[in-house]
Amino acid sequence: MKLTILGGGGFRVPLVYGALLTDRGEGRVTEVVLHDLDDSRLYAVARVLAEQAATVPDAPTATATTDLDEALRGADFVFSAIRVGGLEGRANDERVALAQGVLGQETVGAGGIAYGLRTVPVAVDIAQRVARLAPDAWVINFTNPAGLVTEAMSRHLGDRVIGICDSPVGLGRRIAKVLGANPREAFIDYVGLNHLGWVRGLRVAGRDELPRLLADPDLLGSFEEGKLFGTDWLQSLGAIPNEYLHYYYFNRETVRAYSEVERTRGAFLRDQQAQFYDEMKRPDTSALTAWDRTRAEREATYMSENRETAGAGERDADDLSGGYEKVALALMRAIARDERTTLILNVRNQGALSVLDADAVIEVPCLVDANGAHPVAVAPLPDHATGLVCAVKGVEREVLAAAENGSRTTAVKAFALHPLVDSVNVARRLVEGYTEVHPGLAYLK
Ligand code: G6P
Ligand code: MN
Repeated sequence: MKLTILGGGGFRVPLVYGALLTDRGEGRVTEVVLHDLDDSRLYAVARVLAEQAATVPDAPTATATTDLDEALRGADFVFSAIRVGGLEGRANDERVALAQGVLGQETVGAGGIAYGLRTVPVAVDIAQRVARLAPDAWVINFTNPAGLVTEAMSRHLGDRVIGICDSPVGLGRRIAKVLGANPREAFIDYVGLNHLGWVRGLRVAGRDELPRLLADPDLLGSFEEGKLFGTDWLQSLGAIPNEYLHYYYFNRETVRAYSEVERTRGAFLRDQQAQFYDEMKRPDTSALTAWDRTRAEREATYMSENRETAGAGERDADDLSGGYEKVALALMRAIARDERTTLILNVRNQGALSVLDADAVIEVPCLVDANGAHPVAVAPLPDHATGLVCAVKGVEREVLAAAENGSRTTAVKAFALHPLVDSVNVARRLVEGYTEVHPGLAYLK
């Protein structure tokens, strides 16, 4: 089975390859093709993969190419994990927004819109090529903003593109753990958009255990989301929000914290990763050791400003292992081998969340089998959550429209309608600022 990874020179590719190495079963991936625009990044990642495979018999072969069509031909699965504009682009997304006093984050608020505007046209081109060159392939989209990008691709690939994120799984795992439940046996009642969802229940053998957690301030304050949001607020909500909702519920504090840091997350990662890729040019260093050190530092500092404003302290050791590669592997196995399972994924709504239309991509538990991912019916969201989900989906639709019609006016509308952008004038200045720094937005006229 052939797996093609787009963005194959990306830093997190060894996580995926490491997960593949643990899969010994029949029908596993035997061939990995890395595609990237940048040769030196491919070379660096290939070095890490070679060291990972060194002690594993029958490791999947790994080859690299800068030819997209060649990479796609014959693929059974395509992982799309690209970063249009690189980490320099991410740092600029943050900087331009913060200069206007609004949130500049990779996926949320103005930063997420800017990132979406330059990523959607590239993702659409990829989707069209897959439809032509590998029509039977399944595309698993990791590229952020994951919900929006998956929806853009689904217009060309239908349900053969599935978006993934590890944050709902991590959240479900943490809740199960504090409740003393086995995460494998628990059904997580979670729904929303990517990075904008809520856990409303956790059922073990049909019994909802979440009320027990919400009623116990000690338990509630003992894990990441309890520390971030505070127990009082979680009890008021009667649900556990995805960590990215911290940017909404505590917007003023997170914007201030982001403005005060010496280097934003994007700028930090830009510098950190540049150092890693530089180090990979020296043949005498161990690629795997350098990669692992860099990864550990990245994970330990994830959302550190948010945790600081909330006084949440360090991350829990159990939360440092990431996990998106595990979701991707579980999804691929379920489809390729008809191993039925339930996973929280980004798919077309198809009526699961009645407030949105059938084609809107949402994040929802899905039953997965050889026919793909099928969203399960979920209870409606409360009004305040419905309001946010509809507002943000409305923004995503304006981003998709702007990418399609190339209109600056539509781009301004996308920014202006976002709940975290507080004036149409700010939206206008954001479009000016972003088009100045991002060559990838030159299509906006
Ligand atoms: C979480 C999010 C991902 C994001 C990742 C890395 O897992 O769900 O969407 O890509 O964190 O964030 P970082 O700030 O390290 O790039
Ligand atoms: Mn994510």
